[in-house]
Amino acid sequence: MLDDLRVDGDRLRRRLATLAEIGDTGDGGCCRLALTDEDKAGRDLVVEWMHELGLEVRIDAIGNVVGRRAGREDTAAVMTGSHIDTVASGGRYDGNLGVLGGLEVVATLNDAEVVTRRPLEVAFFTDEEGARFSPDMLGSMTYAGGLPLEEALDRTDADGLVLGDELDRIGYRGPVPVPGPVPHAFVELHIEQGPVLERQGRTIGAVTGVQGISWRELTIRGQANHAGTTPMALRHDAGFAAGAITQGVRDLVTAMGGPQVGTVGVIDLDPGLTNVVARRARMTVDLRNTDEALLQEAERRLADVVTEVAEAEGVTVDSVSLARFEPVTFDPRVVDLVEATAERLGHSVMRLPAGAGHDAGLLAGVCPAGMVFTPSRDGISHNPAEHTEPEDLDAGADVLLQVVLALAEGELGD
Ligand code: GLV
Ligand code: MN
Ligand code: MN
Repeated sequence: MLDDLRVDGDRLRRRLATLAEIGDTGDGGCCRLALTDEDKAGRDLVVEWMHELGLEVRIDAIGNVVGRRAGREDTAAVMTGSHIDTVASGGRYDGNLGVLGGLEVVATLNDAEVVTRRPLEVAFFTDEEGARFSPDMLGSMTYAGGLPLEEALDRTDADGLVLGDELDRIGYRGPVPVPGPVPHAFVELHIEQGPVLERQGRTIGAVTGVQGISWRELTIRGQANHAGTTPMALRHDAGFAAGAITQGVRDLVTAMGGPQVGTVGVIDLDPGLTNVVARRARMTVDLRNTDEALLQEAERRLADVVTEVAEAEGVTVDSVSLARFEPVTFDPRVVDLVEATAERLGHSVMRLPAGAGHDAGLLAGVCPAGMVFTPSRDGISHNPAEHTEPEDLDAGADVLLQVVLALAEGELGD
């Protein structure tokens, strides 16, 4: 009976551990920034596993990789997957669980000699993290037609290296055109990366949607001057302005309350010397909210803070959008299916929105989509300490397997 099929958790965890050796930071974490040599090595390994599992592998023009397993009917596929790039301070589960969980679904079906009605596809998307090239979810956004290919290929990293060149360098600019074929449905297994499931004592999250994301890069220009001789009133200090804007971000987020969050993750000062007033600062601001109107309100307040600080300190500020995603609501049928499947398998489950960005949020623009969350110990992620208990990984992969099966056999009524 298909309903009784379960994944092999040991095999899934072995694959997670093997992939985590690539870019191992020695402290339990992983660094595989998009389109680096480590990313290439991780890609090569996952592609090798795809071939071993009998998947037909295609690579598209932005380097997204999709492994396809034929169905009884040659129709639109049920797609699962995630990403294998990491942030520099990454853990071993963010993204990787969704991709290797997808491969584990395929391996389980191969062992049981099950051919689903619809084809199945397991994907990993390029540069989900946006840690090297903004915006985040760049590959899935291009797949779903939300970002023109040429714009994606032209993105540059902090050293001025061009995404398209880096894609060529690692050999992952593929022949398949983007936007890609629209799947029948998309479901992504992912760690929660927050504290909610653990605090509520639940094993599975049925994800209702993804909060909106607004990233800005601010370049502040002041005047370099001598730290000892320049009277305080005569300074145009880009470093001070960056600090004041950082405080302003915290203040606006605190004043708004609710689900609003805000982060200054980067401040670079130039020339960056002890005895020189900074002439230039480059900083980033990450604002997120589940409500689009509130996210716009936060953006307005940030703009006001920037104007006030610039006027008071006599500096100029260029503000550029690096990423902007509206909040996403997942297809209620997929959310219901994830919840009902977790209950049927005997796992405690709750509904919750995703705090991080996810490829499923982009696929939701073109097909019914949803996500399965597993708990994160102490709610920690983007950190080598990121951890999910083995039995929770297995539970998540079992739910993914059963959700994928239901979607492939016609759960959505077509
Ligand atoms: C990327 O996944 C993010 O949430 O920043
Ligand atoms: Mn992720
Ligand atoms: Mn991440």
